[in-house]
Amino acid sequence: MNILVTGGAGFIGTNFIRHARAVKPDWRIVNLDALTYAGNPANFEDLAPKQAERYRFIRGDIGNASLIEQIFSEESLEGIIHFAAESHVDRSILGPEKFLETNIMGTFRLLDKSLKFWKTIGRPDGFRFLHISTDEVYGSLGPNGYFTENTPYDPSSPYSASKAASDHFVNAYFRTYDLPTIITNCSNNYGPYQFPEKLIPLMILNILEEKPLPLYGDGKNVRDWLYVIDHCDGLIKVFEEGKPGETYNIGGGEERQNIEIVHLLCDLMDKRLGRSGRKSSRGLIHFVTDRPGHDFRYAIDSTKIQQELGWSPNHRFEEALEATVDWYMNHMGWVNSVRSGEYRKWIELNYESRNKLAK
Ligand code: NAD
Ligand code: DAU
Repeated sequence: MNILVTGGAGFIGTNFIRHARAVKPDWRIVNLDALTYAGNPANFEDLAPKQAERYRFIRGDIGNASLIEQIFSEESLEGIIHFAAESHVDRSILGPEKFLETNIMGTFRLLDKSLKFWKTIGRPDGFRFLHISTDEVYGSLGPNGYFTENTPYDPSSPYSASKAASDHFVNAYFRTYDLPTIITNCSNNYGPYQFPEKLIPLMILNILEEKPLPLYGDGKNVRDWLYVIDHCDGLIKVFEEGKPGETYNIGGGEERQNIEIVHLLCDLMDKRLGRSGRKSSRGLIHFVTDRPGHDFRYAIDSTKIQQELGWSPNHRFEEALEATVDWYMNHMGWVNSVRSGEYRKWIELNYESRNKLAK
C-alpha cells in the first residue's frame, strides 16, 4: 500500500505513522504536513536511518491545489488518511479564520484532487479517502446518553463547526460523485507526542514545574478518553475494512470529569516527585473563567465499529495515563523543543485573558 497521510507530524498522525510502521510492514507512507506550531518533524528522527524506503516527508499545505496535484502525479497512491487540521478549540475561539481555511477549504481541495485522480485509475475500489473527524461535531450531551453515528450534528465552537463542515463535504463527495470516502468521529485522545496546550500534557508539565493548574469553570465537564494507539488501531481497521460512504464512531468508554483527571495526574506525579502533605500538587489547582460555549459532556457509543469491524480499545485509562506521564517525564528534550516562543505567546494570551476575566 502507498498511502498519503496528511498532518502526520502532529499528535495523532505521528503515533499513527510510528504504529503503522510496526504493524503494517508492507505500507509506504507519504507524510504531507505544513509544520504549523503543532507539527514536529523531529518526531521521526530516531527512525530516519531505517525509514527511507517506506517513508517520504513533504512539507506543504493541504490547501495548495497544485502541490496536491503534483503529489498525485508522482506517487501511485492507493489512499489518503486525512488528519491535517487546526485542532485546538481555544485557539478557534480566539482566531477562527485559520480553522475555516485548513479544515474546510483544505479538506475540499484534497477531495477535489482525489476525485480527479480516482477517475483516472479505472478501478473504483483502487483508492479510498479516510477522513479523521471528531465527536465534537455532535455538540454537547447532558448527564445521560451517547453519540451514535445517527446523532444530528450540532457543533458549538468554530473548531467543531469547521470539522462538521468538512464532514459534510466528505459525504457530499461520496453521494454526488461516488468517491470512496469514510469518516471516523473519535473522542478525546491522549498519549505521547501530544502538543502541551491540550489538557493532559499541559497539566503534566505544569505539575512538574509547580505552576498553577487552570481548570475551566467548575472542572466538572466530562470527556470520553481513548489512548491514541487504540485510535490508530481503529483507523487501520476502518481504512482496510470499512465500507465507503459510512461513518464509524470511535470512543474509549472511559468518561472522566476534568477535575478527576487532574487529581489523578497530581497523585501519580506526586508519587514520582516525592511530594506530599502541604507540598502536594492538588494545591496548584486554580479554577479559571470557563471556555465560552464549553460542551458539558462527550460520550461515544462505539457499538458499530465493535460489531462490524471487531475493534475495541486495548488500554485501560489509569494504566495508559501512567505510561503517558512517564513518557513526558522521560522526554523533556522533546517538550522543550516544541515549547517555542510561539507556544509561550499562546499560553500568555489564553490564560492571561482568563485570569483577567475571572477577577
Ligand atoms: P494536531 O494539532 O496535533 O496536529 C495537526 C497536524 O496538522 C500538525 O502536524 C500540523 O502541522 C498539521 N497541519 C495543520 N494545518 C495544516 C495544513 N494546512 N496543511 C498541512 N498540514 C497541516 O492534531 P491532532 O490532535 O493530531 O488531530 C489530528 C486529527 O484528528 C484532526 O483532524 C482532529 O480534528 C482529529 N481528532 C483529534 C482528536 C484529539 O483528541 N486530539 C480527537 C478526535 C479527532
Ligand atoms: O473530543 C475530541 C476533541 O478533543 C478533538 O476533536 C480536539 O481536537 C481535541 O483538542 C480535544 O478537544 P477538547 O476541547 O475536549 O480538548 P482540550 O484538551 O482542549 O480540553 C479538554 C477539557 O479540559 C475541556 O473540557 C476543556 C478543559 N480544559 C482544557 C485546558 C487546555 C481545562 O479545564 N483547562 C485547560 O487549560
